[in-house]
Amino acid sequence: MTSTVLILLGPPGAGKGTQAIRLATALSSPHVSTGDLFRENLGKGTTLGLKAKEYMESGRLVPDELVIDMLFARVQAPDCKAGFLLDGFPRTVAQAQALDKRLEGQSVRALNLSVADAALIERLTGRWTCKACGNVHHEKFSAPKVAGRCDKCGGELYQRTDDTRAVVEKRLAVYREQTKPVEQHYRARGLLVDIDGQRTPDEVFGRMLASARGEGL
Ligand code: AP5
Repeated sequence: MTSTVLILLGPPGAGKGTQAIRLATALSSPHVSTGDLFRENLGKGTTLGLKAKEYMESGRLVPDELVIDMLFARVQAPDCKAGFLLDGFPRTVAQAQALDKRLEGQSVRALNLSVADAALIERLTGRWTCKACGNVHHEKFSAPKVAGRCDKCGGELYQRTDDTRAVVEKRLAVYREQTKPVEQHYRARGLLVDIDGQRTPDEVFGRMLASARGEGL
């Protein structure tokens, strides 16, 4: 897996972040999440973060030019030289085309998680994220041992402002319209593996790890 770029695709709430954290450890590959990069920028009050805020809070995609520049700057860092794991990018066909150019000659694999809409809404409206380490819990499916505290690091858990039912429904509509076509971009190139995201987190992880290591294409 040394110089492979792994792309995690799937709708909001499919489990990309949950699995990305585990895969990054198992594969010793950096986890690059565009959503996390925007939230970090917002936390620091940067111009980029403030520009992204209005799009994120209303469930719309941040304009391609802002995302692509930020992502390419991140993957230029030395830790990404031997490959990396993308979570939340590409999300439009234009982003996928820009990434193709950037990665010319590198090995790419896209893992596509599918989950029904009703389950996605339940997952996102019950999600609690750790402020300190980004680990995600769910109030029903993976409740923290101590209420309000992350099992992994003890950090404070919070609910994202875009995880209200109304914003989740908007995010799902945007996904269907703008991100779903990205699947076909990779399927047509023989680079996509479909994965049932409605199994348990451990089962999903086993399948993703096997696919990341070369099975299933
Ligand atoms: P981003 O942060 O990327 O959010 P997202 O793609 O909408 O994905 P989520 O983080 O909501 O879901 P996930 O699939 O990671 O699910 P998770 O593992 O947490 O983007 C946010 C915003 O930033 C966008 O709306 C946009 O505005 C902007 N943005 C980011 N990237 C962009 C780009 N490239 N272009 C333009 N704009 C961009 O799991 C969800 C819950 O389910 C958790 O509670 C978890 O515990 C639970 N769960 C996970 N797996 C399972 C399972 N197998 N069974 C039961 N429960 C499970």
